[in-house]
Amino acid sequence: MIKIAVSKGRIERDFCKILNKVGYDIEPIINKKRKLLIKLEDNIEMIFVKADDVGTYLKYGSADIGIVGNDVLIEQGLTNYFELLDLNIGKCKFCLASNSSFNKDSLDKVIATKYPKITRQFFNSKKEKVKIVKLNGSVELGPIVKISDAIVDIVETGDTLRENGLEVVEEICDISTRLVANKSSLDLKKNEIYSFVNRLEEGIKC
Ligand code: PRP
Repeated sequence: MIKIAVSKGRIERDFCKILNKVGYDIEPIINKKRKLLIKLEDNIEMIFVKADDVGTYLKYGSADIGIVGNDVLIEQGLTNYFELLDLNIGKCKFCLASNSSFNKDSLDKVIATKYPKITRQFFNSKKEKVKIVKLNGSVELGPIVKISDAIVDIVETGDTLRENGLEVVEEICDISTRLVANKSSLDLKKNEIYSFVNRLEEGIKC
């Protein structure tokens, strides 16, 4: 049995499309309603979790595989896993964004973000000191309500920025969904995990 922790929401939907492409019957997932644990075929058990918790399920061995964005992997500084596949879904970018009154060169910038570690690394690499305000969502409000001068956040379509009068100031890095495996699971279930990964790879190519 391979236990997979999948980030709920967009990643879950796109990952299910890949499973479907490679021949898994995903009807139990489509009709799961509020159920959080679903079995597929004989050997797959999927749990549907918050993206920020995928690392915890891997760490405690409750999941052999995690399906999660590299934004979470970087921000949480997770290390006890192997990245086996870039699933080529959930593609977006980390960006610095603000409105037209933002002064990039100001020396006392305040940045709102859900990702303080990535934001700190970005400004450290530019040798700039900034104050970081941690928010848990709706980060685009930062410059509007003047809690910050700019934001660092994920941009996918750009709609949220546009609809809130913001624009990209600088792209920071690309993000996509990764398949990662717990190191001890890879020792114990190597063949099962690699045959699952090989099967998925076919679905990503086409
Ligand atoms: C994410 C992100 C942006 C938005 C970007 O938020 O934080 O707000 O998606 O997507 P777009 O470029 O396609 O508009 P999410 O929907 O996860 O909600 P949140 O604000 O609660 O984090």
